[in-house]
Amino acid sequence: MARETWATRVGFILAAAGSAVGLGNIWRFPWVTADNGGSAFLAVYLGIVLLVGVPGLLAEFVVGRRGKKSPVGALRDLSGSRGWGLWGVFYVITAIALLSFYSVVGGWILRYFGESASGLVGAPPAYFAAPGQYFGGVAAGPDAFGFHLLFLALTALVVLGGVRRGIELGTKVMMPAVLVLLVGLAVWAGARPGAAAAYAFYLAFDVATVRANFFDVLGPAAGQALFTLSLGAGTMITYASYIDEDRSLPFDATVIAALNTLVGVLAGLVVFPLLFSLGVDPAQTSPGPGALFVGLAGAFAQLPGGVVIATAFFGVVVLAALSSSISMLEIPVSFLVDEYGLGRRRAVALVAAGVVATGGLCAFNPTIAGTAVFGFVAGPLVDTLLTVGLIAVLLFVGWVMGRDALAELRSGAGGPSAAVATPWLLAVGAVLPVFLVFTLLTTVG
Ligand code: PFF
Ligand code: NA
Repeated sequence: MARETWATRVGFILAAAGSAVGLGNIWRFPWVTADNGGSAFLAVYLGIVLLVGVPGLLAEFVVGRRGKKSPVGALRDLSGSRGWGLWGVFYVITAIALLSFYSVVGGWILRYFGESASGLVGAPPAYFAAPGQYFGGVAAGPDAFGFHLLFLALTALVVLGGVRRGIELGTKVMMPAVLVLLVGLAVWAGARPGAAAAYAFYLAFDVATVRANFFDVLGPAAGQALFTLSLGAGTMITYASYIDEDRSLPFDATVIAALNTLVGVLAGLVVFPLLFSLGVDPAQTSPGPGALFVGLAGAFAQLPGGVVIATAFFGVVVLAALSSSISMLEIPVSFLVDEYGLGRRRAVALVAAGVVATGGLCAFNPTIAGTAVFGFVAGPLVDTLLTVGLIAVLLFVGWVMGRDALAELRSGAGGPSAAVATPWLLAVGAVLPVFLVFTLLTTVG
């Protein structure tokens, strides 16, 4: 059977943007920004998105579009080396690790969504018992497991539909819905009393904080940039492998990065005015998913029309999370389909069965060797896997593909000139790997 491709260019862009726009934007981005110097941090972050994120996206696109296979097949075929093929399995593992915790969080959100829609907003604080650090206040146990199964089933359902009728169609509906609802919510939130103070808290151009912590900010900013753009997991390789026509990759990458940033900024414009208008001190609940959702659920409960607002808000989060989780599931699925000729149904069933178990481990969150599983997977494990994964892709593009990568980047209508493409290859092969190793060392150390 012929390999599927995207039906339209917009379809690819929305699918990739859907992967990028996710939980990382809606709850992590606003807090990281507010905590690290507001709009001054935003400037550093935007610099990293432009200088690391966009070239990194292009590196994954070049591998995917030229390789026309899952990361395993693409790396192997483009290099002619079985070793690189073996390295491709690293991305399959990363994807499973990502999906394992993401599906658990997606489950929490589903529950919030359901409770909001049925007018139970305000109850969830008990559910997020311990607002702690980022990813710290984990709701664990059978409930978390049940909702993880539900979220995983939704994810599998979309991926079962295939590239066009599943992922492309799904993200074509989800992404516009996310944007429209968020803009609406931001406008509504902006009219709340206290909005001005909230904007000041969120976006105050605090150069002093950035300057004082520049090297501390660099790590979080880089980590946030990779996670938020879905870089280093092989997602973008996989999605680009379904492109069949040649067109300007830099244009697509820029649009995807811009949409992703827009959603992050918009999320902050919703979250902070809401908290401020009700006198919730964000600094006290910062940072953290548990804290954010406890604070918001409490806020919604006190608002006129809170049920509608809460339902819209958690609906946005569900859609954003789902359009990301499908991109995680697609990596192992495409691997099984490409390498072992499995039908899509079987491949989805097999991977989903595995993630029921690995996600279950995150849901029940036992402490193994002194470390709670969820926090470890969602934090250090995923951050490290993504950074190492992206470094490997960059080195592959720079040193193994070399001229082929240049040709691939430049092919397509409106492709970049050599004057742009050559510095890109230099950045990808040398500058960015060094930078990422540096951030890896600062976060580990
Ligand atoms: N970019 C997603 C977010 O911001 O929530 C997370 C993500 C999706 C990371 C897909 C990696 C990935 F492959
Ligand atoms: Na994101």
